[in-house]
Amino acid sequence: MKKLPRLGVNIDHIATLRNARGVDYPCPVRGACVCEQAGAQGITLHLREDRRHIKDSDVYAIKDAITVPMNLEMAVTDEMLAIACDVCPEWVCLVPEKRTEVTTEGGLDVVNLVHIDDFVAKLQSKGIKVSLFIDPDFAQIDKAICVGADAIELHTGAYANYDLLGDHDATQHELNRIIEAVGYCQQSAAKHNHTILINAGHGLTRRNVANIAQIDGINELNIGHAIIADSVFMGLTDAVKAMKDAFKIC
Ligand code: PXP
Repeated sequence: MKKLPRLGVNIDHIATLRNARGVDYPCPVRGACVCEQAGAQGITLHLREDRRHIKDSDVYAIKDAITVPMNLEMAVTDEMLAIACDVCPEWVCLVPEKRTEVTTEGGLDVVNLVHIDDFVAKLQSKGIKVSLFIDPDFAQIDKAICVGADAIELHTGAYANYDLLGDHDATQHELNRIIEAVGYCQQSAAKHNHTILINAGHGLTRRNVANIAQIDGINELNIGHAIIADSVFMGLTDAVKAMKDAFKIC
């Protein structure tokens, strides 16, 4: 039987809802625990520079509360480096960040990011595994391998956006780019004798996820907004389970 990817649930938008009223509910820590009990194989959270959803105290509390790996998404800044080295999550995923964006637009341009190798090495020296959130682009993949990343996370946002627009040709084109990027990453890593995991995420929903989940070589999908949105009508436990079920349907 086909090995399906792991599901990492991004719980940021539980915090978005909490912060909308400046109260202490719904609690992202409880949300993370519910996701884990429902079958999430990882919990992802993005500590943004502007703290618009996840707060520093959430990061520490979630780290203590969960038993599955924590994946801390963060920008490449000294402030975030210090926090990550203090919390020591199992994974850090480095992402680009712009204050004015609604969500993470595009991958990190690791090709043109000076000192990214030092930044990765500092995290790894603390025992933290590092993933780089990049577009499905061969040059970005080569650089990720070259700096010794433990994983890449391929940005599926363009695929998801074209699917939403109902543009089938563009959706298929983006899907092919992701499939080719996975194959290229496997080949290039083998050539350089480097072990690297391939994750993917952004904009994935129960409707569009199967095409990505069925790609051979994808280790984990990180999904947030769609699961939290589904939880409004289904409850969080069933929303997590439904997403995992949707991996199987093509
Ligand atoms: N992966 C990364 C690196 C992200 O930045 C995000 C959004 O925070 C996601 C996955 C999840 O995206 P979505 O909320 O659209 O599922």
